[in-house]
Amino acid sequence: MDMKPGLEGVAAAETKISLVDGERGRLIYRGHRAEDLARTRSPEEVAFLLWNGTLPDPDEREAVRRQWAGARVLPGYLKGLIAAIPREVQMTDVLRTAVSAMGDASFEGPPTPEQAIRIAALLPSIIAFRRHHLAGTEPPAPRPDLSHVAHYLYLLRGEVPSPAHVRALEAYFVLTAEHGMNASTFAARVVTSTRSDLISAVVAAIGALKGPLHGGAPAGVESMLDEIGTEERIKPWIRERLERNERLMGFGHRIYRTEDPRAAALREIAVRLAAGEPWLSLAVRVEEEALRLLEEYKPGRRIRTNVEYYAAALFRAVGLPRELFTPTFICSRIVGWAAHAMEQAEHNRLIRPDAVYIGPLPD
Ligand code: ACO
Repeated sequence: MDMKPGLEGVAAAETKISLVDGERGRLIYRGHRAEDLARTRSPEEVAFLLWNGTLPDPDEREAVRRQWAGARVLPGYLKGLIAAIPREVQMTDVLRTAVSAMGDASFEGPPTPEQAIRIAALLPSIIAFRRHHLAGTEPPAPRPDLSHVAHYLYLLRGEVPSPAHVRALEAYFVLTAEHGMNASTFAARVVTSTRSDLISAVVAAIGALKGPLHGGAPAGVESMLDEIGTEERIKPWIRERLERNERLMGFGHRIYRTEDPRAAALREIAVRLAAGEPWLSLAVRVEEEALRLLEEYKPGRRIRTNVEYYAAALFRAVGLPRELFTPTFICSRIVGWAAHAMEQAEHNRLIRPDAVYIGPLPD
C-alpha cells in the first residue's frame, strides 16, 4: 500500500473554492485573485462568494449585511457559559467551547450559508464578551449599522474604530478567509464527511488551528521582534539562530516557493498604516536581513516571508493584543471551513484513509 506521511502531495478532494499556486505565488478564490478582493470587497461579500460561487449583487449585498448584523447578539445562556469558564483558559479554547454550546437542532442536516453566518457573526462577540468579563467591564451595546470587522473592533475598544483600521483588518479577513486543504479545513471536511453537523466541523477545525504548527505563528513573530529589539542586534541575532538550525518565525511555507501573495498585500497595508513607527522599521529591516541570511544558510530552499509575518505587524498597527492573534485568525478562517463543509456535503464520500499495520501478528 502507498503510504504518505502527513498526506503530503495527496489530493483528497476536487474543489472549486480556491487555488493555492505555490510556484507562481497566486491565491485564487473562485476565479478572483485574493489580493484584488482584499482591495475592493468586504469580508461579508467574500464569504458570500466562497459559499455561493458568485459575488453578491446590490440586493444580495444588503440582505447579507442585515443577516450578519442580526446574528451578532450573544444569547444570555452563552454569556453565562463564557463567564463560568475559569480565567486561565485561553481564548481559542473559550471559542471552541462556546461554539460547541451553540449546537441546537437548527444546525442538524447539511451545512448552509445561514448556519455559517450565525456562527461567524457571533465569534467576535464571544471574544469581546470574554475580554470585558475578565477585565470587569461591560461590552458596549451592539451597533447594527457597523460592518462585521468594524463591529469587532468597536466591541473590543468601546468606540467606533477609524476607517483606516477597519479597512486594514478587513483586508486581513479577506486574505486569510480561505487557503485550500490546510489542516483545520481538512478536519472540518473529515467531520462533515460523516454527515455530522457544521457546529461539530467548526469545533474540530478550531481544535486543529490552535496548534503551534498551524495558527499560532503571528504571536511568535511579535516575540521574535521584541527579542531582537534594536537594529544593531538584527544580524547577530538571526545568525545565531540559523547557526543553531532554528526556525525564524514568519518565514517559510510548505506550498509557496515564491512570495506568498498574502504576505505582500499585508506588508503594503502595514507599511501604510504604521509608517514612521520604530517597531515597523525594525520589522522591515529584520525581513530584509532574514531573507539575505536565509539565502546564505539555506541556499536553494527558496524561503520567503509568509502570511504570519505581516499579519503580526497589521494586528499591532490596529491595536490588537497578542492573545487575540490566533482567535482573530479563527474569526476569518471560519469562512473557508464553512465553504469546504458545504462542498464536502454536496459531493460527499466518507473520508476514511487506511493505515499500514507494522505491529506484530499472532503466531
Ligand atoms: N527558518 C529557518 N529555516 C527554515 C525555515 C525558517 N522559518 N523554514 C524552513 N527552513 C529550512 C528548514 O530548516 C529546512 O532546512 P534543511 O533543508 O537544511 O533541513 C528547509 O528550510 C526545508 O524545511 P521544511 O521543514 O521541509 O519546510 P516545510 O515546508 O515543511 O516547513 C514551515 C514549512 C513549517 C512553515 C516552516 O517554514 C517553519 O517552521 N516556519 C516558521 C514558522 C512559521 O512561520 N509558521 C507559519 C507558516 S504560515 C501558516 O501555516 C498559516
